[in-house]
Amino acid sequence: MFNCIKCENNNFKNLINGEWVGNKDNKVIEIYSPLDNSLVGTVPAMTQEDIDHVIQVAKDGQREWSKVPMNERAEILYKAADILVENANELVDIMIREIGKDRKSSKSEIHRTADFIRFTADTAKNMAGESIPGDTFPGFKRNKISVVNREPLGVVLAISPFNYPINLSASKIAPAIIVGNSVVLKPATQGSLCGLYLAKVFQEAGVPNGVLNTITGKGSEIGDYAVTHKGVNFINFTGSTEVGVKISKITSMVPLLMELGGKDAAIVLKDADLDLAANNIVAGGYSYSGQRCTAVKRILVLEKVADELVKKVKEKMSNLTVGNPLDKDVDIVPLISTKSADFVEELIKDAIDKGADLVVGGKRDGNLIYPTLFDNVTGDMRIAWEEPFGPVLPIMRVKDKDEAIEIANKSEYGLQGAVFTENIEDAFYVADRLEVGTVQVNNKTERGPDHFPFLGVKASGIGTQGIRYSIESMSRPKATVINLVR
Ligand code: NAP
Ligand code: G3P
Repeated sequence: MFNCIKCENNNFKNLINGEWVGNKDNKVIEIYSPLDNSLVGTVPAMTQEDIDHVIQVAKDGQREWSKVPMNERAEILYKAADILVENANELVDIMIREIGKDRKSSKSEIHRTADFIRFTADTAKNMAGESIPGDTFPGFKRNKISVVNREPLGVVLAISPFNYPINLSASKIAPAIIVGNSVVLKPATQGSLCGLYLAKVFQEAGVPNGVLNTITGKGSEIGDYAVTHKGVNFINFTGSTEVGVKISKITSMVPLLMELGGKDAAIVLKDADLDLAANNIVAGGYSYSGQRCTAVKRILVLEKVADELVKKVKEKMSNLTVGNPLDKDVDIVPLISTKSADFVEELIKDAIDKGADLVVGGKRDGNLIYPTLFDNVTGDMRIAWEEPFGPVLPIMRVKDKDEAIEIANKSEYGLQGAVFTENIEDAFYVADRLEVGTVQVNNKTERGPDHFPFLGVKASGIGTQGIRYSIESMSRPKATVINLVR
């Protein structure tokens, strides 16, 4: 599978109207591994002219695709899920080298994505329309009936981040195409080899020419042009708040679905099961080196139980494995880039300079940041508010649940929050007041399972993902009103 989408020297190609093509001037982007800086492959650096062509192709392909019966579209998705799993080993090897995700997490992402694709097909087949009789509204009679179905929007521009290059691309592609849209996928540059592989999987499954196309290239170079292209009917973006805000400012009259940054707080109340809380904080804060939007990114703990919680978190952190995922499954891997590691190191230094207590870690080796925990973090420290996207957790001590809620809500972000308590009244008291998309009770913050609604508020996003929600977001009602004349 892998071989057919690349030519000699691992030069990968783009999928355009069913063909695997490079770009005219053969300009490529070299993709180096964050693990050992080895060359993993190259992808074409697409131009604005290329993008014009791809979007036209997607427009043309979508017209025919929207006429294909739902059950046939669903069968293609079921096949794509099977092909994805059949090729998991080859894709895992690419993922490990391209984004430094360990084998276990890479495998899990692929199987989770296959389940996502199947569930999307199941869900779409059961999303019937409705008919509304006119006489339920004052002044109207039964001779007027609205028959409502869902229709596709047209061309969906799907832009995905580096950290889940398969799941966060498929979670845009599958709901978009099942309801009759076509897709232009712009994968993260560091993750584009995975993205192109995924496109091949969908093509192998029978997605017709022009329905799924890819554009590779640096977002900083082609992103603005793509998102403002008049041929794009919907933008499904997952990535940083910085880029998301920029896209929302430069686009107009195009619907957006955005999942952005986060600073998810784990709030630990005085009656919490501290072992449960510590386990979830460590798993939620440090897996894949904290490079998850839904990672636990701060701990707000009641002073009364803080010392005991810090002790337990520190103990659990000693079990974290650190190293190169090419050698073994590890929790802490080198960060995706030197720029990312530099940023995390800046936050660490700022916290130390401003007097935070360094409980664990604080070390760096190349792009590898060792798991780090700060206690007694205060509001003047950057780590209290900024998203590290790295294995660094700040503990802020609070006097009561209201102070925890106040600090949690002061964040610009509003993705998820978690509250650890044995008291159901307190759980709902906190959950009702947190300005986030989702509150986890007695669990780490996380997106899965993928049919749950997943959304960020404030600087964490626009709109709602989650299989049914994504299908609804990328389609619209179409009403046909029957007027009976006799
Ligand atoms: P990023 O730097 O914002 O990049 C995300 C995507 O946007 C990439 O495909 C990138 O392409 C593209 N892009 C960059 N500039 C663009 C522009 N001007 N116009 C259009 N597209 C542009 O984010 P990342 O580093 O990949 O991922 C980390 C961030 O994403 C974190 O903030 C994390 O919280 C967030 N995230 C959120 C979720 C969620 O579900 N809420 C999930 C995962 C990640 P290039 O790669 O070529 O630059
Ligand atoms: O960061 C991306 C988001 O999809 C994470 O998913 O299930 O690991 O919280 P999950």
